[in-house]
Amino acid sequence: TPQFTIDANGYLYCEQVRVKDVQDAMGPLGSPFYLYSHARIQQNYRAYAEALAGMDAIIGYAVKANNNLRLLEMLRGMGSGAVLVSGNELRLAQLAGFDMQKTVFNGNGKTPLEIDMAVHAGCLINIDSEFDLENIQASARRVATRARVILRINPDIDPQVHPYVSTGLASSKFGIRNARLDWFLQSIRDNHDALELVGVHSHLGSTITKVELFRDATALMLQFVERIRQARFDTLRYLNIGGGLGIDYRRQGVRIPTPQELIDAVRPMLRGTDLTLIVEPGRSLVGDAGMLVTSVIGVKTNGSKNFIVVDGSMSEMIRPSLYDAYHYITLIEPGIPGEPPHTYDVVGPVCESSDFLGKERVLPLPAPGIGLAVMDSGAYCMSMASNYNMKVFPAEVLVDGNTWRVIRRRQSFDDLLRGYGEPRSR
Ligand code: LLP
Repeated sequence: TPQFTIDANGYLYCEQVRVKDVQDAMGPLGSPFYLYSHARIQQNYRAYAEALAGMDAIIGYAVKANNNLRLLEMLRGMGSGAVLVSGNELRLAQLAGFDMQKTVFNGNGKTPLEIDMAVHAGCLINIDSEFDLENIQASARRVATRARVILRINPDIDPQVHPYVSTGLASSKFGIRNARLDWFLQSIRDNHDALELVGVHSHLGSTITKVELFRDATALMLQFVERIRQARFDTLRYLNIGGGLGIDYRRQGVRIPTPQELIDAVRPMLRGTDLTLIVEPGRSLVGDAGMLVTSVIGVKTNGSKNFIVVDGSMSEMIRPSLYDAYHYITLIEPGIPGEPPHTYDVVGPVCESSDFLGKERVLPLPAPGIGLAVMDSGAYCMSMASNYNMKVFPAEVLVDGNTWRVIRRRQSFDDLLRGYGEPRSR
């Protein structure tokens, strides 16, 4: 990516900022930290906006991918809507100033209180099940507003990705099945004073690399649209193809479709349908715009295995442990001169064998304190961080051109003790 480069002396840059300078300024206590490129997020958003030019469309950023408030404000400022999965995400989206006409509230387990918030805010709300429909109509009556609802279809399409990030299979917990459509339509009709059916939705999964899958899902949803319109619902306005476009984690030249290719695959199918397209990208907007910068504690060898032990871990970044996910790792400065590269597992200090950031990586020998960048960590990394082993949430830094600033400070020990109240035992 043009925003991340290594100069002739072996130093990694994010835009015009040398990552090592940020690492030095953050100090030993400030490591690890996340670092994001403003320009990269902008470029990713524009790729969708340009692909959708001339179409009625909403780009709904999937907030779960990275919920940093400053990044949300940035995306909102560029015109993005928001795709939400919890009451707290909704409150955050409201703080960030998102236009509620461009928000979608998803989820297979929304609580009645969360639905009240979403109805009150005027979000598009997806119906995921029979009980969900019941809860949404009850909520609309409580709030005395008609809820704008979309049907989350379970398309039974295999996205050919890791089972944990596959959501559109028949056996998945999400969405409603074809055979139940008539029940849902009847029920929405019976509750028409509370529910306005405005769209259909499907989400196949995440890290998808084939646009044909989106074409299949769109074709299927258009069949649903047809049936729903035949049942004389004339309020259908939205066709939501979900999110899911992958990014090039491995950097081995595998072609990942661009937003343009994704949209071009479905655009002809929408012609003449009077539908507004909704896309819900998360990873493809922020994933390749971020890195985790972590510092080397030491290097060790056990038998034939070499380890680089760093201060970052599965607590800050769980994707490798949870999905066996691959993230490209590079030193942010040169290794020790004259030492040949070796094959290392890059591991953290957490007391689990599954605590690794990368396996079998060929890297120069790093001196203690040297920074490693775990790349493509803008999506589902910070937002999935935990306090396991009492580790704190790392700081987040935003680079913009030749400047950078901390957009969220790291947690402190006191933050971890917040819930106990006073007085504290000694
Ligand atoms: N829309 C819906 C309904 C979703 O469930 C998701 C993600 C998205 C949109 C955004 O998908 P994206 O464009 O980011 O692929 N933690 C996993 C990914 C979980 C994705 C969950 N749903 C990971 O780290 O790979």
